[in-house]
Amino acid sequence: MTTPVTSPGAASHSEQRGKKLIAVASGKGGVGKTWFSITLAHSLSQQRQKTLLFDADLGLANIDIQLGLMPQRDLGGVIDGRLSLNQAKVRLQDYDFDIIAGRSGAAALSALAPNRLLSLGMDLLKLSENYDHTIMDLGAGIDRTVRLMANRAGKVLVLTTPEPTALTDAYAFIKVTAQNDPNADLRIVVNQAESRSEGQRTYETLRKAAESFLGITPALAGIIRRDRKVPDSIRAQIPFLTRHPGSDAAQDVAALVNGLLRSPS
Ligand SMILES: Nc1ncnc2c1ncn2[C@@H]1O[C@H](COP(=O)(O)OP(=O)(O)OP(=O)(O)O)[C@@H](O)[C@H]1O
Ligand SMILES: [Mg+2]
Repeated sequence: MTTPVTSPGAASHSEQRGKKLIAVASGKGGVGKTWFSITLAHSLSQQRQKTLLFDADLGLANIDIQLGLMPQRDLGGVIDGRLSLNQAKVRLQDYDFDIIAGRSGAAALSALAPNRLLSLGMDLLKLSENYDHTIMDLGAGIDRTVRLMANRAGKVLVLTTPEPTALTDAYAFIKVTAQNDPNADLRIVVNQAESRSEGQRTYETLRKAAESFLGITPALAGIIRRDRKVPDSIRAQIPFLTRHPGSDAAQDVAALVNGLLRSPS
């Protein structure tokens, strides 16, 4: 770890964004970040994109749980100093992408000192250069950890649902991110929409608020419909695109991925 220590969020660091690093954020918890991050990584790998999925929810990791895995290596080893980030990655042969799993309940991870967090973010940025895409599943909220990790990403996908509480929290996330870096590439994903038109209305609400009060226009990355097959696949601990290919939500994620691949920056 050779990264110089500077104050968190300093301008010099906010400029160092990984072009191929995509953060998935939300503000409100439980809107579907982890499910979406896994499904996005899987969908990208199905499009022959070399993909890494990183569990950046440092306190409440659960990518491995949704995938039904017991990884032999995880971020805990990196924090302990036993493993490099590269050594902590695990290849998912069946799904053709790599993951770096978190470690749930490890308080030490969420309480990482700012300089350790900065070097972790910089190490991830470096590792992401070996991939076409690296997806970061961020924790809920807008705390320091979330902000520092989001600052490394070239693109930030902000997930919301149509619920007012989720919208308010997504707006709060957009506000702190844009205040820190007005040029951040923020894109909205509306998840759990009853219909495409409800999703579109949700996006318009957020866009108008961002334009009026922040002077920015976040793009719409995609709308994903509410689909009962999503909780089914999570309960079965089988990746959604394996268990329910062709379902409504799978089609919506595929459309979103096509959009991402068409507008890489
Ligand atoms: N498109 C969808 N249709 C139906 N249910 C969904 C959809 N997306 C997510 N869910 C449900 O939302 C719940 C929360 O999902 P998930 O754990 O991925 O959210 P999260 O944002 O990562 O939560 P946390 O903030 O706790 O990390 C899951 O039980 C899942 O079944
Ligand atoms: Mg989660």
